Amino acid sequence: MATAIEKSLIEILSKANWVGILTGAGVSAESGISTFRDPDGLWSKFNPMELASIDGFMSNPERVWDWYQYRRNVIHSTKPNAGHYAIAEMQKMFPYFNLITQNVDRLHQTAGSDDVLELHGNIIENHCFQCKKPYKQEIDLSSKEIPRCDCGGMIRPSVVWFGENLPHKVLAQSELVAQKCDVFFSIGTSAEVYPAANLPIIAKKNGAKVIEINPNVTAISYIMDYVIRDTSAETLPYIVEELKKRPTN
Ligand code: OAD
Repeated sequence: MATAIEKSLIEILSKANWVGILTGAGVSAESGISTFRDPDGLWSKFNPMELASIDGFMSNPERVWDWYQYRRNVIHSTKPNAGHYAIAEMQKMFPYFNLITQNVDRLHQTAGSDDVLELHGNIIENHCFQCKKPYKQEIDLSSKEIPRCDCGGMIRPSVVWFGENLPHKVLAQSELVAQKCDVFFSIGTSAEVYPAANLPIIAKKNGAKVIEINPNVTAISYIMDYVIRDTSAETLPYIVEELKKRPTN
């Protein structure tokens, strides 16, 4: 553990009744999945408007499908890391606990997290671009051909693209968590994308202690009560181990 964790933080956590966590791409970085905005991140190599927007899909659906096939193949070959597993353990440590993620890779669920609030959807499920019906058939990860719905529409991944609304219920539940919790973590996110980035701010305004785990400064570091400048896979297992030593709420 490179960075010291303040004792007062462990103290606050051991008394917490409701803990909320927001995660971003940084949590999966140590599993080998690229982040978006780091210097070698996906958006330094690819244009998000071409690959992650409705207009991008309409102007070149094959290019977009191909890119998601590439990302699915990367994700398929990865495993959760110690950070994902620690978060899954944390869900049993507090009377109320909610995990909110911007990640589409489903590694939190693979690590054992339940009822994950997926703000940006996920890359595993698919639906029809035209009629929106879920597409249940398995995707052939080696195929370049875009599957078709019964209605004839093209199938797309069930991720949220730029310009699309977040799933209404998931966002409402996430905002409620931010309003009600007494401790809120922002982990592995640059906090550049709204409305996700607003959640720690809502939590802070409603009196929660807010904690950032991120090796780098983010757009909302200045609101944090605690900042841990280390990686999630290094930090979270340590927090879990410290909590295990104390009686929690
Ligand atoms: P970003 O790529 O914007 O930010 C990743 C953050 O993770 C950065 O602040 C890094 O410093 C941090 N980081 C890197 N490695 C880390 C590690 N090992 N442990 C902890 N933190 C680490 O990713 P997001 O904030 O998730 O949306 O991006 C938000 C959204 O923008 C994504 O969901 C995606 C993207 O466009 C859509 O595709 C809709």
